[in-house]
Amino acid sequence: MAPPKGFVTGKGVLRFAAMLAMLMAAGTALGQVAKEPAAAREVKLDLYEPPNPTLVRPSEDPKRTVNGLALVPPMGWNSWNKFGCNVNERLVRGAADTMVATGMRDAGYLYVVIDDCWQVDRDAQGTLIADPAKFPSGMKALGDYIHSKGLKLGIYSDAGSKTCGGRPGSQGREYQDAHTFAEWGADYLKYDWCWTGVRKGEEAYALMADALRSTGRDVVFSICEWGKDRPWEWGPKIGNLWRTTTDIRNAWTGRVKFQIGIVDIVDLNEPLYAHAGPGHWNDPDMLQVGNGGMTDVEERSHFSLWAIMAAPLMAGNDIANMDARVRDILLNKEVIAVDQDRLGIQGHRVRDDGDLEVWSKPLADGGRALVLFNRGPVAAEIAAKWTELDYPSKMSAEIRDLWAHKSLGRKAGSFSATVPSHGVVMVRVTP
Ligand code: GLA
Repeated sequence: MAPPKGFVTGKGVLRFAAMLAMLMAAGTALGQVAKEPAAAREVKLDLYEPPNPTLVRPSEDPKRTVNGLALVPPMGWNSWNKFGCNVNERLVRGAADTMVATGMRDAGYLYVVIDDCWQVDRDAQGTLIADPAKFPSGMKALGDYIHSKGLKLGIYSDAGSKTCGGRPGSQGREYQDAHTFAEWGADYLKYDWCWTGVRKGEEAYALMADALRSTGRDVVFSICEWGKDRPWEWGPKIGNLWRTTTDIRNAWTGRVKFQIGIVDIVDLNEPLYAHAGPGHWNDPDMLQVGNGGMTDVEERSHFSLWAIMAAPLMAGNDIANMDARVRDILLNKEVIAVDQDRLGIQGHRVRDDGDLEVWSKPLADGGRALVLFNRGPVAAEIAAKWTELDYPSKMSAEIRDLWAHKSLGRKAGSFSATVPSHGVVMVRVTP
């Protein structure tokens, strides 16, 4: 039979083709797209190559569908920012109890996320083992407890051989771990990126997304590769949220090792606003409200900016022992409503006058959330014009102050206020 057009016979070429195929298969088995040796390029033009379905990027695969979860930004509590590796079942149960007792659950904080260091090893079957000293009742019992409170269980793993805390990672055991998590009742998986070597983010996260889907359980999938490989470009059909930056520091500004301050994160996360939407969110990391590294004014700005950016709201403090001041920030329902608005648009800067900024977020009722933000060292007046909010100048609109919890009456054309240093004035503008 005649060979297909373009197929070159001859032993040398066939041997070369076989070698190339073996090289590609080896590369793919390691989870990478094989790199073609430079010398092969010309020869390859002569080879007949049927389309290889394994080379379709997961985000471009027409068969891949969204999981339909997290239509508004997920909210909850996570152990990491305050407790790091000192996590145990007493702490997690206490957090769950607090979320009910303080009204956090009813305000929308649903996920109780156990971050790194809960795992110690694998058993003879390769199943992950939770630290028996710290989680003596086991993860299934903890999941049941969390569910009995009307909350949801979040768990943590890593796409590499180890987690960032040096515990066993999920690489090569994605399906086994996904099914273990599902048996424990996990509703949320934060999947980190340490010890991943030369893995490609998109493929590694798609693999775990598929493993989670195979369990039949609804699991919100949190991509945590720190924005390294532009997850906002490939993430929407793979996960529900993706970290856009390295870790958040408990400080207003400045980098220390892998951690950066609140305003540094804001500046990296803001330009990505067009990539966010229902089911797929930019994640500027968990909240540092209540952790003591900022003033009260700065903590309110942090919470307001996260809300106007439609960020996941994961409390990261010791909620069981928080005072009324911190509770009032985390439980500001008018600010939370901006974050959770069902239109799901991430707000962004509409004016940048150096230290003085105007931010706007369109809301489902046609209104706007507005943040006047003063980064400077002294209080200053900031004005927002209606035209900057895409409103006609003459239109009158109701202004509601979301921190003072009071109506400021109707205004036309613009709204202005004096904003303290490092502070915000946050209002809702409703035509
Ligand atoms: C990384 C993540 C953090 C946290 C730690 C745990 O640094 O970005 O959010 O999960 O790992 O080790």
